[in-house]
Amino acid sequence: MAKIGIVYWSMYGATYELAKAIAEGAAKDGAEVHLRRAPDPLLPDEVKAMDGVADAIDAQDDVSEATVDELPEFDGLIFGSPTRFGSPVAQLQNLFDQTGPHWQTGALVGKPAGFFTGAATIHGGHESTILSMSTFAYHHGMPIVPLGYGVAPEVQTTRGGGGPYGPTQLGDGEGLTDDERAIALAYGAHFHRIAEKLAVA
Ligand SMILES: Cc1cc2nc3c(=O)[nH]c(=O)nc-3n(C[C@H](O)[C@H](O)[C@H](O)COP(=O)(O)O)c2cc1C
Repeated sequence: MAKIGIVYWSMYGATYELAKAIAEGAAKDGAEVHLRRAPDPLLPDEVKAMDGVADAIDAQDDVSEATVDELPEFDGLIFGSPTRFGSPVAQLQNLFDQTGPHWQTGALVGKPAGFFTGAATIHGGHESTILSMSTFAYHHGMPIVPLGYGVAPEVQTTRGGGGPYGPTQLGDGEGLTDDERAIALAYGAHFHRIAEKLAVA
């Protein structure tokens, strides 16, 4: 059993839904999963109060905030962010930016990393957001666990989110499609299997 941290930030709740499905897949495979929200020192109060945002933030009330200090305690880390102009949100990047001490000590070296996102349009940046987040893993020496095409057959046929780079959702406010959910579940289990092997090694 490996200890997996899933660290995400979500404004409208779609990335949170995806995080929960990945967590469920990992837990079904026997992982000890910890869901964490990236801290948010940035979102203005008037945005937090907007329709669709206030309820989504309330729904995440029971998810603990991630801390930089705890990151090395996990055997593997999966990071998720909505797509913002083809890139991850500043809230997650802000957490990444505080991990300099871990970079200096090599505290995350060898721990597997995975990435997921969501975007409102199909060509709006799913892949660029994942690739942009993944530079974090390169610099910390974390092996990246992509999804590929073999882990979940839905990756080959979906007309929504979920691709070889990782689980994603195509945000239409209707929640995850069956394919997106199946891909997220399969990814969680796949990631756990790899984290378990690397933890033993
Ligand atoms: C400021 C802003 C920028 C966005 N940029 C993009 C984008 O580049 N491409 C896209 O397809 N969707 C974009 N979106 C839509 C979000 O990525 C999409 O709604 C996402 O599912 C929201 O995730 P959440 O529900 O976890 O907050 C943007 C939304 C906002 C508010």
